[in-house]
Amino acid sequence: MSLKPADGPRHGSLSPPESNLSSVAERPAGGTAPSQLWHHGPSHFAADRLIRLHDVCKTYHVGEVEVQALQGISLGIERGEYVSLIGPSGSGKTTLMNMLGCLDRPTSGSYLFDGNEVAKMSADGRARLRNLKIGFVFQNFNLLARTTTLENVELPLLYRRDIRGSQRCLIARQLLKKVGLESRMNHHPSQLSGGQQQRAAIARALASRPSILLADEPTGNIDSHTSREVMDLFRQLNEEDGITIILVTHDQEVARHAHRTIVLRDGRVVCDSTDFASAAAALHQTGEC
Ligand SMILES: Nc1ncnc2c1ncn2[C@@H]1O[C@H](COP(=O)(O)OP(=O)(O)O)[C@@H](O)[C@H]1O
Ligand SMILES: [Mg+2]
Repeated sequence: MSLKPADGPRHGSLSPPESNLSSVAERPAGGTAPSQLWHHGPSHFAADRLIRLHDVCKTYHVGEVEVQALQGISLGIERGEYVSLIGPSGSGKTTLMNMLGCLDRPTSGSYLFDGNEVAKMSADGRARLRNLKIGFVFQNFNLLARTTTLENVELPLLYRRDIRGSQRCLIARQLLKKVGLESRMNHHPSQLSGGQQQRAAIARALASRPSILLADEPTGNIDSHTSREVMDLFRQLNEEDGITIILVTHDQEVARHAHRTIVLRDGRVVCDSTDFASAAAALHQTGEC
């Protein structure tokens, strides 16, 4: 099964047209046959810039104190990239992930996500964008304890008027098969191992066919053997299905799976490299790579 993201390839275009979010949200109901739900033909993702940050700053105000969590971040991420984000504690990784995931807006600067200016978007607009285009994977899985694995994966689709109940179930089953959990679909999260719970959470994150998966310390709560299984799944989703992945990790063994590593320090990018060794060196140096 192929799992191309919802907005699919943009044929023959190096600079994609601005996407119109409201038109995506208003797709005709029931227009897609279940067998077509996950297949959109050959991928041209690499030519598309999904994310563009220009001079993004984020300042938190705590009483009289100003904390400059991000200080002028400029970077671009193409469709189909696999990026890890590393840096010391307090360097701004979570703040940047929240920004990339449209959970927060920059204090200043520009953030274009798939052609939409997030810096000017309302909370509702950002929520709509998240529901349609962004999948989140968390360190502690965030599965609902009292529902089955299948129901957990169906959950993001409950809010979609364009997907009927039978399609919802079919998609969730396909995704559980994809992550190797089909035989566990009627289990509750407490009946799954940590690695299985994270795989279920990844299936749930994929349910709305996001353009991008954002993972904040996805292997933080699982052992190193299971962590390799989860990383194999990320690699498969990226290489075979063209899903864009950005993950925050403190674990260099995890970070080295990505094709590109961005190192943050004091709210600034100090290294952005496809060579993991130079990124790892930059993590321990005071200068830039
Ligand atoms: N909600 C907040 N309010 C105030 N300061 C914050 C908030 N979130 C993060 N910070 C501060 O911003 C800086 C970056 O934090 P964070 O993005 O969580 O870093 P990291 O994830 O790399 O550990 C830190 O100095 C932190 O104390
Ligand atoms: Mg953090």
